[in-house]
Amino acid sequence: MKHDERSVPLKWFGIGKVLPFLKKYRAQVAVMLICGLATGLVDTIQPLFSRYSLNHFVAGRTLDTLPLFICLYAVSILFSAVNNYYSCTLATKIEVWLSKDMRNKAFEHLQTLSFSYFNQNSVGYIHARLISDTGKIGTLFSWTLLEGVWHLTYLTGSVTVMLLINARLALLVMSVMPLIVVFFSIFQKKLVAVNRTVREINSRITGSFNEGITGAKTIKALVIEDRINRDFQNETAEMKRKSIHAARIRGAFGATMHLASSLAMAVVLWRGGYIAASEIGTFSMFMSYAEGIMEPIRWIIDIISDFITTQVNIERYTKLVETVPDVSDLPEVTEKYGDSFNPKKENWEPIKGDIEFKNVDFMYPDGDEYVLKNFDLKIPFGSNVAVVGETGAGKSTIVNLICRFYEPTGGALLIDGRDARERSQLWLHSAIGYVLQTPHLFSGTIRDNLKYGNPEATEEQIIEALRLVSADRMIERLEKGLDSDVGEGGDLLSTGEKQLISFARAIIADPRILILDEATASVDTITEQQIQNAIDRVIAGRTAVVIAHRLSTVRNADIILVVKDGKIIERGRHGDLLKAGGYYSRLYTRQYEDEATDSVFAENRA
Ligand SMILES: Nc1ncnc2c1ncn2[C@@H]1O[C@H](COP(=O)(O)OP(=O)(O)OP(=O)(O)O)[C@@H](O)[C@H]1O
Ligand SMILES: [Mg+2]
Repeated sequence: MKHDERSVPLKWFGIGKVLPFLKKYRAQVAVMLICGLATGLVDTIQPLFSRYSLNHFVAGRTLDTLPLFICLYAVSILFSAVNNYYSCTLATKIEVWLSKDMRNKAFEHLQTLSFSYFNQNSVGYIHARLISDTGKIGTLFSWTLLEGVWHLTYLTGSVTVMLLINARLALLVMSVMPLIVVFFSIFQKKLVAVNRTVREINSRITGSFNEGITGAKTIKALVIEDRINRDFQNETAEMKRKSIHAARIRGAFGATMHLASSLAMAVVLWRGGYIAASEIGTFSMFMSYAEGIMEPIRWIIDIISDFITTQVNIERYTKLVETVPDVSDLPEVTEKYGDSFNPKKENWEPIKGDIEFKNVDFMYPDGDEYVLKNFDLKIPFGSNVAVVGETGAGKSTIVNLICRFYEPTGGALLIDGRDARERSQLWLHSAIGYVLQTPHLFSGTIRDNLKYGNPEATEEQIIEALRLVSADRMIERLEKGLDSDVGEGGDLLSTGEKQLISFARAIIADPRILILDEATASVDTITEQQIQNAIDRVIAGRTAVVIAHRLSTVRNADIILVVKDGKIIERGRHGDLLKAGGYYSRLYTRQYEDEATDSVFAENRA
């Protein structure tokens, strides 16, 4: 999603969304604002000190009040130093606290969102909401607020002092202001536009960079290194051109700013020369203010655009934390069963493991056609169901619904005879073991990962589970055994090894319902045979749904479902389906012949 800063109207509603986070730190914010006010006041009175010293000590040629002057001046400098220290520390603290609270809240909310949210939003998008948006909001409500109070105090203070001391000259100095505002605004617009282009190119470069790294293997395999490299160089060349352009504008901006303050000072010189003759101190004071008020004016113009962009950050952040999960527990269900952070396990009924699809229709939230239509299926507890069918038939969809990663679009899913929506997701998930088509491990050791299944698992249980899935030999080969690091997402292991570990993890959890989605797709035939034996042992007494491509692995299933285009076209035991001579039998014969040919080839090679 891209936001054009120019097209975003100035909205104030965003602030209201941040106030609840700020409330906790209202005392600190108040102190910070007082510090900002004090800084502005101290800055305002500095020219008055020099005015006095010039008028009194230099022009008046007397040093009678010098000790008192030095004391007061020293106090003001000391105060300013202490005050600066406090305001900067406070602003940093508020910035960090605020973004931390917002990040925590967003992260907590992310845990409650459904599967579909993560399918629809990329990691990069979510990461940016969590880190960069919250960071910008944090800065706005700390540093920008502090600077705002400081600059506004200085601006009002200096204008008031000038008006009080010499109203005519003050009005003259201020008459330059409208001109300056127009000048700055024009530059500012140009600067915002060119900065936006630089940012866009920068994010394109980051994107290419990421792709160059994550897709390195594919790039090499396709032999497109040269093209990728050329594209990257073009992007960086454009970046260079635009950055230099931006630097030029920035340079011109700085020069104009200098010119503008000189102009204001020239006015003072021109009209105020007569004061210089009599009151050198007042003259110097006006010169200081004429130069000093440029910075607050530039700041105000700058901050308007900053404020508008931060509105976009707030809007994007709010959208994330206000996303309603597609699958959420009803209030009365949460009341009884608790939520992920406060489960009320004492109210949970034990799960038997009966599963029933009743006239289920299902369409993915971002899909445009039904994957399942009027789908009926009964899986009595303790039975072993195999689901087979071609790619895209809807096998994973069926198990996604059993796990309530998605809610049926129509009809109902019954668990132990009651609509799944009558009980909490956590209640169901606590009884399901799921080995995914694309296994995921968390960074840490193999042991850590296995214990995610059951934190109380004993060493014996862990070893037994590993032996069951034939992962024990693999662990023995590793130098550090169970304490080996698996890397980010388990990337230091092969896909087959990750599947074995996640299978063992599921077994350690001892679930009532076990779901294996192509759990053996990435292991060799010998390991597969061993896992097959394990599956037969592990699923005894549990409800099991096993999805398999290789039909030879599902021969023992209580019932085999053949799915095609979201419909069950055949169901029955292996022998019966073969006898029936339908789709399954054709599929089986073809696979059997392929496997036989493969093994003949293998023998010939040997
Ligand atoms: N997250 C999703 N959003 C939209 N459509 C999806 C999504 N996931 C799957 N589909 C679509 O739903 C249909 C069924 O997909 P499903 O993943 O259930 O197939 P499958 O039988 O498990 O296939 P495979 O054997 O390749 O794993 C496909 O047409 C697919 O394009
Ligand atoms: Mg699948």
